[in-house]
Amino acid sequence: MSSRNGHRPQSFASVEEVTSRLGDVGYLADRALATTVFLQARLGKPLLLEGPAGVGKTELAKALAAATGRPLLRLQCYEGQDETKALYEWDYGKQMLYTQILREKIAQIVADADDLAGAVEAIGAHDSVFFSERFLAERPLLRAIRSPEPVVLLVDEVDRADEALEAVLLEMLAEYQVSVPELGTFTARHVPLVVLTSNNTRDLSAALKRRCLHLFLGYPSAERELEIIRSKSTGLPEAVAGHLVDVVRGLREQGLRKPPGISEAIDWARTLALLGATEPDTALLEDTISVVAKYERDVERALRVLPVLVEGERPVPVPETGGADDPGTGAALRAARDTPGRHGSGYYGERTGTQAAPRRVSGSQGERSFVANHGRRTR
Ligand SMILES: Nc1ncnc2c1ncn2[C@@H]1O[C@H](COP(=O)(O)OP(=O)(O)OP(=O)(O)O)[C@@H](O)[C@H]1O
Ligand SMILES: [Mg+2]
Repeated sequence: MSSRNGHRPQSFASVEEVTSRLGDVGYLADRALATTVFLQARLGKPLLLEGPAGVGKTELAKALAAATGRPLLRLQCYEGQDETKALYEWDYGKQMLYTQILREKIAQIVADADDLAGAVEAIGAHDSVFFSERFLAERPLLRAIRSPEPVVLLVDEVDRADEALEAVLLEMLAEYQVSVPELGTFTARHVPLVVLTSNNTRDLSAALKRRCLHLFLGYPSAERELEIIRSKSTGLPEAVAGHLVDVVRGLREQGLRKPPGISEAIDWARTLALLGATEPDTALLEDTISVVAKYERDVERALRVLPVLVEGERPVPVPETGGADDPGTGAALRAARDTPGRHGSGYYGERTGTQAAPRRVSGSQGERSFVANHGRRTR
């Protein structure tokens, strides 16, 4: 199979091929993700990616389109969105324009009618002219089904859509069919590669999850994150970039309202490179903290722990802003996230007499942090 813009095969022969072809278009996938993408393409199943902000969910769909040479169709979901924005609507403006231009012809059609009911009847006999493909305004779901060539369909931030739209989506994904009562049922000529993303601001229906291959995309390992930053040619010296990754990973564990994603790590690397950073420098990181911390409280908290993360100095304790009845911001949240032995001595202001080394953070800690944030919009 070849595509219109490349001669790139539209499916993958192996998991390794997924990794290498996504890599060729600048997307560095780990084994779990590459395996899921391989299965998705082979089984013709939609892929539901859940995970925190900025970990490469949307980017995967773009990379898939680039790697397979398929056009990318994107449905950006939002609250209150109705199916006319997702499936199709009738192009009212065009219908009006045609009736204006054809008014003489229409007058002839109703000329013989004796009364209003007769005129409506006469016009009604020509309904199909106005509810024909000519006046059909396709939206991404219908466009994906009717596309003459295979496509990648991105349904982005599906958790923001209302449940009614989720039901429409489910129907479409079950059969890869869409019915337009006036025209009939359209069935996909080519099964699209479908990627749904969610930030988990609400639970998706079990039916939708069941229909999809489901993958939690957490923060990457330190090595992969460094590799991603390297691949973006930020201009930051390798040693500083390595240190930056550790700092970013440490910040993700501070219970920030919006923990920094990979995109913020890349932005921070670019910022530091522009400012000529040649070595880990706490002052420079403090000056540029707004690149990764987007709320006042996050900035305060990040500034407090930066010395620990960069140099191993003891942070100055800052009083909590939330009380025990505020599980979102208070001590309760942090206590809930804490597990015995997770932090060595020297953390949270404990005097030890020795300097605490910057902490290493595992991928699963990123996942836990996300789950704790579950239900709260981060942007
Ligand atoms: N595996 C990766 N390989 C290369 N670049 C990546 C990868 N993951 C993330 N990125 C970079 O991070 C940026 C942010 O990713 P993306 O927009 O896909 O995040 P997201 O998970 O969709 O976040 P949100 O939930 O906020 O929409 C991308 O533009 C890309 O530059
Ligand atoms: Mg996204």
